[in-house]
Amino acid sequence: MAQNTITIQQQFIENPTRADDRRLSAAGVTIDYSRHWATDQDLQMSMKTLAQRGFSAAREALFSGGLVNTTEHRAALHMAVRASSHSQMARDLPETMRDVLTERKRCFDLASRIRAGTYPGQRQVTDIVNVGIGGSDLGPRLLVESVSGRDNTQIKYHAISNVDPTAWSRLKLELKPETTLVVLASKSFRTQETLENGKLILSWLTEALDDAAMDHVFAVTASPDNAKKFGLKATQILPIWDWIGGRFSVWSAVGFAALCAIGEEKFQRFLNGAESMDTHFRSAPPEQNIPVIMACLSDYYRNEHGLQSQAIIPYAEALQYLPAYLQQLEMESLGKCVDVNGHPIVGGTSQILWGQSGTNGQHAFHQLLHQGSVISPVDLILVKQGPQGYEAQHNMLLANGLAQAEALAFGRKHNDPHRDIPGNKPNSIIGLEQLTPEALGALIAAYEHKVFTLGLMWNINPFDQFGVELGKDLCTQFLKYLNDPTAIPPQSIATWIKWCQP
Ligand code: F6P
Repeated sequence: MAQNTITIQQQFIENPTRADDRRLSAAGVTIDYSRHWATDQDLQMSMKTLAQRGFSAAREALFSGGLVNTTEHRAALHMAVRASSHSQMARDLPETMRDVLTERKRCFDLASRIRAGTYPGQRQVTDIVNVGIGGSDLGPRLLVESVSGRDNTQIKYHAISNVDPTAWSRLKLELKPETTLVVLASKSFRTQETLENGKLILSWLTEALDDAAMDHVFAVTASPDNAKKFGLKATQILPIWDWIGGRFSVWSAVGFAALCAIGEEKFQRFLNGAESMDTHFRSAPPEQNIPVIMACLSDYYRNEHGLQSQAIIPYAEALQYLPAYLQQLEMESLGKCVDVNGHPIVGGTSQILWGQSGTNGQHAFHQLLHQGSVISPVDLILVKQGPQGYEAQHNMLLANGLAQAEALAFGRKHNDPHRDIPGNKPNSIIGLEQLTPEALGALIAAYEHKVFTLGLMWNINPFDQFGVELGKDLCTQFLKYLNDPTAIPPQSIATWIKWCQP
């Protein structure tokens, strides 16, 4: 492990224009990565590793439909579902893009009929419930929360994810079956939580609407046969493809419930923002490439200094779900211990991502960030323009975010060790002009490409997630033990199985 010999403060003394030198903007996203230990040479080392791994060719393979998901022999074409009809992707992958554009239009048409109150039947839908978990939940939830603006939302968005029935038992009290639509979002259409919640909600709809219940239910899936077996009408099934991973799928029909809530115009702008970041990532040289810089910083802290965590702190209440979204994106993608060839990885892989919206975190865990014994680099996400009419409060929010960046980096000397704030805590400021759909799209796409770049750097396949399977299999077995007191569970868990039984 490298020793951190040159502090952030010294780096600023040596180069007073560092804050301006280490500033990149693309697709409406600006990153200031000046408050870091990593020197230019350190970042160049990570870029050298990337070059040795064939970064340019790998990036092209990603965009051109190469089988970059090596363990599942699939492409990872999430950029296609946000690409426009005149994009390079449309020229390079005409058949894929024909399908994508056809299905996107179908979703947009359906959503506009639903929003206009002409589908299903002639009654205005007031509520839409997205039933899904992981990638089939976090993206749409983040999108609606970030850009819906609430005031002009015609259709209220709700999300049910956990198999814990508490959420549904509470939500149903607010809903009327006649004016509620349900979207069962599941790539596999085999996910326990989603199917179980789906059954509960279907029986609630059927009780009230009888045969018309199924008109109120859509499925979004890459397994239409499973959805049909579940009772969905073929015309209410919106397809996605096996080449789009769950945690990369918000741009596709997985975003359908969000689309109905926010409308086509905003959804399209969300796609456009991500597409602009795709263009930047695909064309910018590594040293000017935002996702590459983000990846190099993570690699540097993880592998040169053994830092195991990274905090994400958006100074925007509307981005409160961003940390949870990025947790799945990074940790499900990069939380691996073998490389693409199945060999144990010697260095570190995914950092533990965590965080919360500022300023709430300041009154909870920032103490540890400033004076604790664990060092966690921080991404502070700032939005320049806040809601109209609240300029004074928004300025406070911005001042808080900037203050944290400086306090973390430079600290404050004090004779009393209890009051001494050592500083030298690495952080990036990521600035968005305004929390527009475009900005959100570009921001998420930047993190997606960061993940791809780290996957390449660490020789990991970021597109599979076999680690989550064992727990699912054991759960199926344990459910049998819970439901059948004569079944004999393994000794190690028998006491708890008994404890769960009535
Ligand atoms: O938790 C594992 C996982 O497979 C995620 O990768 C995925 O986003 C989530 O479950 C939901 O899967 P599905 O969309 O197939 O229901």
